[in-house]
Amino acid sequence: MSPEARGHPERGDTVSLALSILGTHTPRMCYPEKVQDFQKPLAQAMYKASERLFSVDPEVLVLVSTHWVASFNHYIDATPVHEGVLTAMECPDLISNLHYRYPGDSELAKALVAAGRAAGLPVIAVEDPTYVWDYGSVVPLRYLTPAANVPVINMTVCLTASLEESYQLGRIIGRVLRESPKRAVFFASGALAHNLVRGPERTPTRMERKMEDEFADLLVKGDLETAWQTLPQFAQLAKVESGGRHVATWLGVMGDDAFRGEYLGWGPSSGSGNPVIVMYPQA
Ligand SMILES: [Fe+2]
Repeated sequence: MSPEARGHPERGDTVSLALSILGTHTPRMCYPEKVQDFQKPLAQAMYKASERLFSVDPEVLVLVSTHWVASFNHYIDATPVHEGVLTAMECPDLISNLHYRYPGDSELAKALVAAGRAAGLPVIAVEDPTYVWDYGSVVPLRYLTPAANVPVINMTVCLTASLEESYQLGRIIGRVLRESPKRAVFFASGALAHNLVRGPERTPTRMERKMEDEFADLLVKGDLETAWQTLPQFAQLAKVESGGRHVATWLGVMGDDAFRGEYLGWGPSSGSGNPVIVMYPQA
């Protein structure tokens, strides 16, 4: 489908929140050459998301990861260069000794922190080259920006933050990104249905799939208000990853603006459901 048909701005247009993407980080996809057949459609969807990302010539990618879990504060990584060696705490057999290096955007990250704090939220900048990223940040970037050539700002989900607070922080981030002259893309790294079970190929239940599909339909149609209104019950019934906080922040970033979605694909991982959806602002 052409960019015009999707209704998203052409490269070079001055839209500072250029795209908003929901996608996966399932650890079995960390090494593209090792992806198993049951997750290959999901890997292909992430490659398509990368094409969409670069179609807007992004200058910064802001990423909320459901695997950077904070208890009390919202952390935003303002480190100028993110570099480290990741062995995944939850699954060191799947991700081990993985070197990563991505440019950061310290100035914009600090602007996000300042705006959150000005609104009274406990938002803290991390500027620490010893901090090692989580796999929810690293895995999707290996598909989205394989050349690691887009500055990245990643941030936590906060367990003591309600969905409303997570949404509020998203609204604040969205406002700062719109005020920035940089073309920004916001990426939410996390599953929808997330009743985890043993067995990598296991899918969510039929009911969970129906709920996921209905939620995805709202996104594709651009009915973000209904998506936001239904998120609490959906998150509870389908045990959406991180309680749905990443989705709340993602919806908050889009705010009241008009968006339309494109469903790029889906895949299972140990009972979870992982859609990849790109949202295009409607000028
Ligand atoms: Fe996860």
